[in-house]
Amino acid sequence: METYTTRNPEETLELGKKIGLGLKKGDVVCVFGELGSGKTCLIKGIASGLGISEREYVRSPTFTILLTYRGSPPLHHFDFYRLSDTGEIEELGLSEYFLGEGVCAVEWPERLGPLLPENRIDIFIEEVSESERKISISLPVAATPR
Ligand SMILES: Nc1ncnc2c1ncn2[C@@H]1O[C@H](COP(=O)(O)OP(=O)(O)OP(=O)(O)O)[C@@H](O)[C@H]1O
Ligand SMILES: [Mg+2]
Repeated sequence: METYTTRNPEETLELGKKIGLGLKKGDVVCVFGELGSGKTCLIKGIASGLGISEREYVRSPTFTILLTYRGSPPLHHFDFYRLSDTGEIEELGLSEYFLGEGVCAVEWPERLGPLLPENRIDIFIEEVSESERKISISLPVAATPR
């Protein structure tokens, strides 16, 4: 575990960017944290580290919980907050994404329970104060294989 502190959204974006720089296709990044802790902010940084502009994101026509950033590799951004029944998950064919050609970033991964892939990078965001976040990563950023 490696832990970082960010003091504003820009620093979280910057940390996400560093994480994104080290990611490669097939990586699944699970971002845990309360509502408003900064998960989406960090994932936007990851997209930027993968070299994808924010203009490149497209909503999945079928699933509101999935946003894909078109790039190489693409970034599939899942937000399972509103997911209530697992039927919807099966329809999604999640493993096609998790084992696919892109990078996956997942908000509210705890909603997936046993469907979470075992081989993944976990990130935990804790709200220390209104603007301070403690961000712990299960792999050292520099050691993230490319
Ligand atoms: N250090 C920080 N890092 C990230 N966000 C911060 C920080 N300090 C304050 N914020 C604020 O916290 C909020 C984080 O919002 P964000 O949408 O990224 O959270 P989230 O975890 O994705 O929430 P949700 O669970 O609703 O999807 C923003 O309003 C942002 O301005
Ligand atoms: Mg969010």
